[in-house]
Amino acid sequence: MQQIRQYVETHKSRFLDELVDWLKIPSISADSAYKGDVERASDWLVAEFGKLGMDRVEKYPTAGHPIVYAEKIIDDQRPTVLVYGHYDVQPPDPLDLWTSPPFEPVIKDEKIYARGACDDKGQAYMHVKAIEVLNDQGELPCNVKFIIEGEEEVGSVNLGDFIRTYKDMLAADIILVSDTSMIANDTPSITVGLRGLSYVEVEVVGPNRDLHSGVYGGSVANPVNVLCEMITALKDEQGKITIPGFYDKVEVLSDAERAKLAERPFDLQEFKDSIGISATGGGESDYSPLEGATIRPTLDVNGIWGGYIGEGAKTVLPSKASAKISMRLVPNQDSDEITKLFSDYFSSLAPDSVKVTVNPHHGGEAAALSIESIGYEAASKAMEDSFGKTPIPTREGGSIPIVALFQEVLGLNTVLMGFGLHSDAIHSPNEHYGIFNYLKGIETIPRFHQHFAEMAKK
Ligand code: BES
Ligand code: MN
Ligand code: MN
Repeated sequence: MQQIRQYVETHKSRFLDELVDWLKIPSISADSAYKGDVERASDWLVAEFGKLGMDRVEKYPTAGHPIVYAEKIIDDQRPTVLVYGHYDVQPPDPLDLWTSPPFEPVIKDEKIYARGACDDKGQAYMHVKAIEVLNDQGELPCNVKFIIEGEEEVGSVNLGDFIRTYKDMLAADIILVSDTSMIANDTPSITVGLRGLSYVEVEVVGPNRDLHSGVYGGSVANPVNVLCEMITALKDEQGKITIPGFYDKVEVLSDAERAKLAERPFDLQEFKDSIGISATGGGESDYSPLEGATIRPTLDVNGIWGGYIGEGAKTVLPSKASAKISMRLVPNQDSDEITKLFSDYFSSLAPDSVKVTVNPHHGGEAAALSIESIGYEAASKAMEDSFGKTPIPTREGGSIPIVALFQEVLGLNTVLMGFGLHSDAIHSPNEHYGIFNYLKGIETIPRFHQHFAEMAKK
């Protein structure tokens, strides 16, 4: 046990240098201008796997960005761990809010600052380094397979087909993912629930051109006003979403289950202070803020535009208005069904004075994972070894839609052993990842393989 920690300690500066090198590649999957960089980030990873002496390293092209696959099979009799992660990153905008450029990684205050530092290059790379650590300890305890994709941040649109096509190649006993957070550095946790997602873009169109707001205002409905009214109608005063049927399939937790989840440490004041708000909001009045952000579904506007937004005042009655709206879903809700319910209801809210279109974007299903599995047990023991504390099972509000598909297509359970913190500012300016967290991950993952090999002996 000491040996693993020792190896990580000895090699930590190289581990950091390597990650910095990868973080310099702007692998922004959403922006086609970066297609070549996304490709380069995948090539970089292929080269790393090459150095590790994997049996097989392959880049699978898709209609979008490539999937990197690697495997090392020690012995058919041993269990197989399939690691999933993503090397694509979110766009870094707004750039002017970064204190150092997003693709010029800087180490400051024991943290590494760069887009993708935590989500998910830093966390995915811990698994690559874990193989190096295990190689150093002798033989790998488990067979290992990797899928590191380049389209997670754009909905993993080609990954479903990939896992269906290569089902046999991907045969495994457990899926291991580090793409979530823990409660705090001194409070390790394992994620046992993720929310699903339904994401739509709506457009409200009124007159056939922008109009003079003095000449026409008062006789022509303003699409921006109408859009705002329609959005307002989507929630009532208790914070309940008003779409008929929206809550029909929502997983209802018993009071005991809610009480259990509420046992995890959560400092409301610290939460508010960390993001500069004086009161929480946005959720249902009969659920706590922590519940609102984890076990309950939501509806939020992610972006809204229309009319004149340049300098000064332009008197205009805009011809159209748009918004991007996300609904975070919980277990048993079906994202396609919710998208349909939204679409029907939203269209029904439109007055005759406008035309409305609803365009669905990618979506995905929620995941609920059991703590009564050897995968969870192995992760719990591994974290206990390296943190000296038993991790707490938690539900998180973010989404990793492929987790539900892994269950459905491959019939496999996933363990979400993430090492990030909510304060890491993923998707925000100044994303960072603690060096402590990065190294703890590299220390804990090999222990997972060891415990899992022991517990899943065939
Ligand atoms: N790693 C995140 C998801 C996450 C973050 C889960 C923190 C739990 C805690 C992932 O990269 C992500 O951002 N997912 C997207 C969904 C996707 C379909 C674009 C999300 O949650 O918005
Ligand atoms: Mn991620
Ligand atoms: Mn993300």
